[in-house]
Amino acid sequence: MNKYTLIQDIYMPSGRPPFAYSDGEVTENYLLDRISRADDLSVGSAELAGIIRDWPTLYHLSPARADLLRPLSSILKGKRILELGSGCGAITRYLGELGCQVLALEGSERRARITRARCRDLSQVQVVCDSWDSFEWDHDFDIILLIGVLEYSSLFVKSAGIGPARKIAQFPHIADVCRPSSELLRHAPPRSGPPVLDEPLPAVPGYKPLNIIPKE
Ligand SMILES: C[S@@+](CC[C@H](N)C(=O)[O-])C[C@H]1O[C@@H](n2cnc3c(N)ncnc32)[C@H](O)[C@@H]1O
Repeated sequence: MNKYTLIQDIYMPSGRPPFAYSDGEVTENYLLDRISRADDLSVGSAELAGIIRDWPTLYHLSPARADLLRPLSSILKGKRILELGSGCGAITRYLGELGCQVLALEGSERRARITRARCRDLSQVQVVCDSWDSFEWDHDFDIILLIGVLEYSSLFVKSAGIGPARKIAQFPHIADVCRPSSELLRHAPPRSGPPVLDEPLPAVPGYKPLNIIPKE
């Protein structure tokens, strides 16, 4: 945690290389601007649903995004969660409202700022702008979440190898913040059909698979 400086309520490392993931400057600036000015930031916000105008804004603002994790709410509630690749904070917001202690890690500075803006009223949500291969933190977590992230990781992490489990296992910084009872939960959107939660990954040594995984 010492390598980060809190700037505008986001933990920033110094000398971070640029991180290119983006839905496009116009879309992301629109999201940052509208979310920053919104009064109702909640998961079910009609105000935010009202500014959806295309697929990317639907993805980041739809109240339905939280449905992915609702079946797991009793498992997630109150837990310390590391969310890898928080994007624009749609899932982060849900976790914060559920009462989780969330550390949202996002490689893109603009997306980290959007996550912060979406969760600015939730003091139990912290945001770090860093790539997960250089991430450091001095606390561990009950649950590590990856929602739609591993598919893109090889674009940004040189060590990301073949297969998602191997990719995560290669990140010692993530292994450092896991404890033997930590659970790892990832979601990879299918090419077609409804979203499914993927199999748990036996990725980090000592990791305990999450047993309750809805398949529908
Ligand atoms: C498809 S988006 C999913 C965002 C979010 N999880 C959601 O479901 O709305 C993938 C996100 O992972 C982030 N990401 C990808 N590789 C990363 C890395 N190595 N470190 C940190 N963030 C990363 C991207 O910047 C992007 O915001």
